[in-house]
Amino acid sequence: MNITVSERLNGIGEYYFSLKLREIDELNKQGKKIINLGIGSPDLPPHPEVVKVLQEEAAKPNTHAYQNYKGSPVLRAAIAGFYKTWYSVDLNPDTEVLPLIGSKEGIMHICMTYLNTGDEVLIPNPGYPTYSSAVKLAGGKCVEYDLKEENNWEPDFDALETTDLTRVKLMWINYPEMPTGQQASVELFEKIIAFGKKHAILICHDNPYSFILNEQPISLLSAKGAKEVAIELNSLSKASNMAGWRVGMMAGAKERIDEVLRFKSNMDSGMFLPVQLAAAKALSLGKDWYHELNTVYAERRKYVFEILEKLGCSYDKSQAGMFVWAKTGADYKDGYALSDEVLYNKNVFLTPGGIFGSNGNKYVRVSLCAKKEVLQEALERITSSNPS
Ligand SMILES: Cc1ncc(COP(=O)(O)O)c(C=O)c1O
Repeated sequence: MNITVSERLNGIGEYYFSLKLREIDELNKQGKKIINLGIGSPDLPPHPEVVKVLQEEAAKPNTHAYQNYKGSPVLRAAIAGFYKTWYSVDLNPDTEVLPLIGSKEGIMHICMTYLNTGDEVLIPNPGYPTYSSAVKLAGGKCVEYDLKEENNWEPDFDALETTDLTRVKLMWINYPEMPTGQQASVELFEKIIAFGKKHAILICHDNPYSFILNEQPISLLSAKGAKEVAIELNSLSKASNMAGWRVGMMAGAKERIDEVLRFKSNMDSGMFLPVQLAAAKALSLGKDWYHELNTVYAERRKYVFEILEKLGCSYDKSQAGMFVWAKTGADYKDGYALSDEVLYNKNVFLTPGGIFGSNGNKYVRVSLCAKKEVLQEALERITSSNPS
């Protein structure tokens, strides 16, 4: 029987990491013990109080039913409280927030909500690959905009202004930027909002890394007039160590929330209540939680800096987020060559920067989601002259 997949899947491959993890599994089956410094999945647990809420709520008989499509009022209030406390942004918990099953699903929902076939979307190069796959799956057309080191990984607005923007409906931005670790300034956010207003482009900001190795978390919604033209996604995956729990959020004007909910409410039937209540607990944690987390990441980062130095890479020490982004030296043609050499000869996997877009070709990205001892071992393998 000839079963064909839908045309919408044309040009959509299996996600890079899903393929690479299979290759790493194969290598491990051959007896190699690959140290995987590729993926940004926190290895640390959530706060014990968060786990306790989940356990206690899950043990109750009345927490197992379908839930409200808009999320529990407790979680919505916690999201609004979190935005107020950390970003000084006022959000109405009833109308301006929407809990999500991770921000990745939010990216897809936003694309499905706003794009007609052929609508154009500005996508960062380099950037998180899900933006382009979601745009393509929704029938839109990706228009890459360059982020370059010489321009501090910020969009070049002069260059963008010279292009035809008439068909552009959405623009994806993400600061602290993944993979480059670049942080946003208030001025950058103001420029982006002005750009969105001038060209009637909905600015979609993806903000999962603002608490990792970043002294000043900032939300695009804190820029003046932002709600008129911007929405923001946020996530508990990274800063709350809850990647597997699948909890994220969207924040923005009531109209945008209602529009996205129109799509989303046809896709899922709400989130398990104990998960929502535990997420609310996580969002209410204070400074100490983020301080402890960042102390661990800062210590790990020292080893990653050493690994990168041994590999002849250069990097910016002030980057934020849970990765280090580094430029390969003259010994390697590009990040793919370095990644392959280190994988096959040293049994350590680093992500080649080119998977995030052509402007990442000369770079590699190293995850901080590995224990100090593992990073020490990776450093030893890389320093040793013998293949592992
Ligand atoms: C830039 C960016 N956005 C979104 C996500 C997805 O986060 P979530 O776990 O909330 O779906 C990731 C995860 O790696 C990411 O790097």
